[in-house]
Amino acid sequence: MRTVMPTDGFRDSMLTGLTRRPRAVPCKYLYDAEGSALFERITELEEYYPTRTEIGLLSDRGADIARVVGAGARVVEFGAGSMRKTRLLLAALDSPAAYVPVDVAREPLLLAARRMATAYPAMTVAPMVADFNHPLVLPPDAEGHGPVLGFFPGSTIGNMMPGDARDFLRRVARLVGPGGRLLVGVDLAKDPRLLEAAYDDSQGVTTAFIRNLLARANRELDADFDIRAFDHRAWWNAREGRVEINLIASRRQTVSVAGRLFAFRRGDAIHVEDCYKYTVDQFRWLARLGGFVPEEVWVDSGNLFSLHMLLRA
Ligand code: SAH
Ligand code: AVI
Repeated sequence: MRTVMPTDGFRDSMLTGLTRRPRAVPCKYLYDAEGSALFERITELEEYYPTRTEIGLLSDRGADIARVVGAGARVVEFGAGSMRKTRLLLAALDSPAAYVPVDVAREPLLLAARRMATAYPAMTVAPMVADFNHPLVLPPDAEGHGPVLGFFPGSTIGNMMPGDARDFLRRVARLVGPGGRLLVGVDLAKDPRLLEAAYDDSQGVTTAFIRNLLARANRELDADFDIRAFDHRAWWNAREGRVEINLIASRRQTVSVAGRLFAFRRGDAIHVEDCYKYTVDQFRWLARLGGFVPEEVWVDSGNLFSLHMLLRA
């Protein structure tokens, strides 16, 4: 196993994000060890349908996926998290040769990668602590002859603006090379009530996850956020086709972050995350713009979630 050291810009991103208007901090900073654990709890919630639905698709369609991909694949996963879905994919594939999980959350990544290496002793496991929004190259130990399969489950692509998603897809197309593919999970547009409940659950786990941005600043940046003085709000923006997630100051306050003071009035927002939802056709269109040819698409019987197999154009 090998790793790449992160270039963590949390301090600069917080200071810049709180200075700009509207205030906004990139959602990748939600994922330190605590945030990653909170996200895992989200995946178990009744209201959060995407994880169980995508797991259902991967379990049902494993043989179809394996047939398209072929033997000896080298799998590169973006935002690998706990690798629960990866286990289903690897079990379905014919003799995968290498697995390269990419994630910003260092400790959870290395822990899950070690477990994966133990479960698959014949497969090269080469985790990379890296931001998938920057260009990536395959690590030398994952070089070989098998086809490269990108794997991007979870609808994490929905956390990118569509233009950024297109640019990401273009970089992935270069990475997988001729004959390479991307298997990507995409959450579908649906009743806003279901979407808003998925991002504001009754147990408050999502609130804790979103507030973890501030809690992490308290831990790492010598900040003094009173995290209960920021309410988590998630609403469907129909025009943009996305759920928008913000933290809203519930009272006037001044917060210190890394030695700088930031004033908030009641109602001031910090934008934390967007979750774009697509129709199948919209996403296939985006995939073409990103340098892929859409092949198969699998959708659950409830029309909640889609899994797209894309071939590099
Ligand atoms: N693939 C898993 C986890 C999704 S959660 C699933 O489908 O359930 C999103 C994952 O992406 C987290 O593990 C997070 O740490 C990682 N992540 C978020 N932004 C990232 C970025 N810019 N670069 C690399 N990893 C990122
Ligand atoms: C990781 N990503 C796909 C999740 C989502 O559904 O957009 C992150 C999340 N945010 C709040 N709940 C889950």
